[in-house]
Order: sequence, then structure tokens, then C-alpha cells
Amino acid sequence: MERDEAKLRAYYGDAPSDINLDDVDLTRIPSHVSIIMDGNGRWAQARGLDRTKGHVAGVDSLREAVTTSVRLGFDVLSVYAFSTENWRRPQREVDLLMHLFATTLVKELPLFHQENVRLRFFGDLEALPRETYKVFQKGLAETADHTGMTFALAVNYGSRAEIVRAARLLAQDVENGKLSADDIDNDMFASRLYTAGLPDPELLIRSSGEKRLSNYLLWQLAYTEFYVTDTYWPDFTRWDMLRAIHAFQNRSRRFGGVVNK
Ligand code: FPP
Repeated sequence: MERDEAKLRAYYGDAPSDINLDDVDLTRIPSHVSIIMDGNGRWAQARGLDRTKGHVAGVDSLREAVTTSVRLGFDVLSVYAFSTENWRRPQREVDLLMHLFATTLVKELPLFHQENVRLRFFGDLEALPRETYKVFQKGLAETADHTGMTFALAVNYGSRAEIVRAARLLAQDVENGKLSADDIDNDMFASRLYTAGLPDPELLIRSSGEKRLSNYLLWQLAYTEFYVTDTYWPDFTRWDMLRAIHAFQNRSRRFGGVVNK
């Protein structure tokens, strides 16, 4: 994605001492960065606050992450906002999150317009509360012709369910005679996933120190570099994004082969 370097430099301004915009190679910015936003509850509890306050604070970090991603020139930023397992949380927290998704999306639509950001969702939206579902559809419709960064929210998303769904879609096409089983290959399988048409993430960031995939993008992360930071999601800033990209650029990606010398 095109980036406005003057705007990017102004956005970063004065750097804290350990990381600086000059520490990253702007010609090797990952195309798709994905984030498991973790640690909202612990961030709140550490301050003696209700867990839900952590989610509210997490929205501010997410807004900054979107702006940072646009400034850095990602093609895609995707985030894990709510998993198929998250329904097991206390009803009050689930209700708050669903409401927060809806209100935040409405509130941030001007930002998406201003930054030319196109929305996308991964997951089964049909099962969401009506209010949330309707707002998501509105967001999709209003940003459909934007040509800048894609911002994808995984909501009611689970990777195994996504893979089973893809298998079912392909089986239906075979059953209906639209497809022969022998035609199914990696690309065709990928075209039935929620991420169809998007590049796989090159970098996965997980906040709050956990080293798990938690049923997230199991297919798409096959060759992705992982970056885990101890920072809780509400404390994650544009500087943490630079640290993650810096770490990514110092990895040697071989995709199962050997490094060319
Ligand atoms: C993980 O922290 C966070 C979530 C399950 C929710 C993420 C949601 C937001 C950041 C709000 C985003 C808003 C929109 C519009 C997408 P946790 O609760 O698992 O924290 P813990 O591990 O410390 O308990």
C-alpha cells in the first residue's frame, strides 16, 4: 500500500529511546499484520477496575493500531475481537462487548472514510445480536468502495469452524456437480475461507505474553512470524507496532527452504 512518508514521520514525532522509525526498513513493511488483542481483563484488574473497563480502554488501542497501520502502509490489518469460545464469558461481559463492537463501529465510520479503510469480517455474523449485526452490515456497505487498507475484525470466529465450513462448501459444490473432488487444491480451499482474496498474515502479534494460537487463523498462519509482547492490549501503542516490525525484519524467513546466499 502507498504510504505518505512525511505524514508517517509527523505521526511518530519524537521517539522514545529504545525504538525509532529509522530502526525499521520502510521498504520491507509486512503486507498483512494480524493481532490477537489479549490482556484487557488483566489490565483492568491490575488497576482495581471491572474487566469491562479493559475492553473500553482496548478500543482506544485498536483505533491507534488502525491509524498506525494505515500510516505504515499495511495492505491488511486483522484483529481477533471475539472467538466462538468467548460466549462462555459472563453474560454481562458478552453483552458489553457486543454493544461496544456496535457503538465503536458507528463512531469510527468517519475515520474509515477519512483513511479510505475498507471493512471486512471473519466469522459467523448471523449469530450476533441484531444491533451488532445490523451495524456491521452498514459498515461493510459504507466502506465497500474504499480502496485503502483492509481492516478485518474476527468476531464470533473460530478457525476450526471456518475450516469445517470451507470443507462443507466444497462438498456441496461437488454434490451439485459444480466441482470435481480432484479439482480441490490449496488455492481453492483458501477461497472458501473467510479470508478469501487476502494475503496470509506475514506477522502475528499477540499481546499480554500468552504463547497460544487460541483457534485463530490456523490455516492462514502456516508460515507467519509470531511476535509476543508482555504489554497488555490497552497499553499497546504505535511504538509497540514498530518493535514488532523491527523484530519481524530481523527474522530469516525460509518457508521450509534454505536462505539464498
Ligand atoms: C482479550 O482480553 C480481549 C477481548 C476478548 C476483546 C477484544 C475487544 C476489544 C479490544 C474491543 C474492540 C472493539 C472493537 C470495535 C472490535 P481478555 O479479556 O481476554 O483479557 P485477559 O486475558 O486479561 O482476561
